[in-house]
Amino acid sequence: MIDLLNDTAKRTVINSDAHDWLKINKGQKAIITSLPDMEEIGQPLEDWINWIKLTCELLINSLSDDGIIIFYQTDRKYNGRNIDKKTLITNEFISRGYNNIFNKIVLKQNPDTINLFRPTFTNLFGFSKKVKSGKASPDVIFAGKMIYKNAMGFNACEAAIKFIDSKIGKQTIVDPFCGQGSVLKISNLLNFDSIGIDILKEQCEIAKTI
Ligand SMILES: C[S@@+](CC[C@H](N)C(=O)[O-])C[C@H]1O[C@@H](n2cnc3c(N)ncnc32)[C@H](O)[C@@H]1O
Repeated sequence: MIDLLNDTAKRTVINSDAHDWLKINKGQKAIITSLPDMEEIGQPLEDWINWIKLTCELLINSLSDDGIIIFYQTDRKYNGRNIDKKTLITNEFISRGYNNIFNKIVLKQNPDTINLFRPTFTNLFGFSKKVKSGKASPDVIFAGKMIYKNAMGFNACEAAIKFIDSKIGKQTIVDPFCGQGSVLKISNLLNFDSIGIDILKEQCEIAKTI
């Protein structure tokens, strides 16, 4: 549980296309994010795959070589197949010289539960060019509280932030697809400043206040 309650850490929420923000904000040390699903960007599968690849390239260009990026992505069951987001994103990072340094399976429902629409687990995984994976920690964790269907679980946010802290110390945590601000909130509670970007004004309004 979060033990370091704090109300002085700063939170900045920007209503913008993340691509525009990433192009002009380089040298980021700590990014934690969940890239949107195809419905959220209103594109068919093949176009969405290309959009994810472009987004990975922009994230890499914005990230410092000694920085860390962590993704929280739930696969999709789609037309009789599984859309494996972790593999898609991993290929983009590995092919550009990044190492996979952080890996968790995050349970959103108990083992043995059947869900017809979405997998009951999410992948939490991260990369860096220079930072190495460190001390072992649990491989399978619970998501914790989720403030809506597409939200990142609070417990997963905490695990990602604490990993970054253990490897590169206190950094501003950036979520370029911040949604309703789960990463921003937990960062602030752990005494980290946070910056969130979201293309939807309504999401930004919630992200400012949760
Ligand atoms: C999976 S949700 C993020 C959920 C978030 N982790 C939370 O806990 O609330 C993805 C978010 O990306 C936003 N989004 C989609 N396209 C975007 C873009 N081009 N730039 C910035 N945000 C975008 C959506 O509005 C949505 O809120």
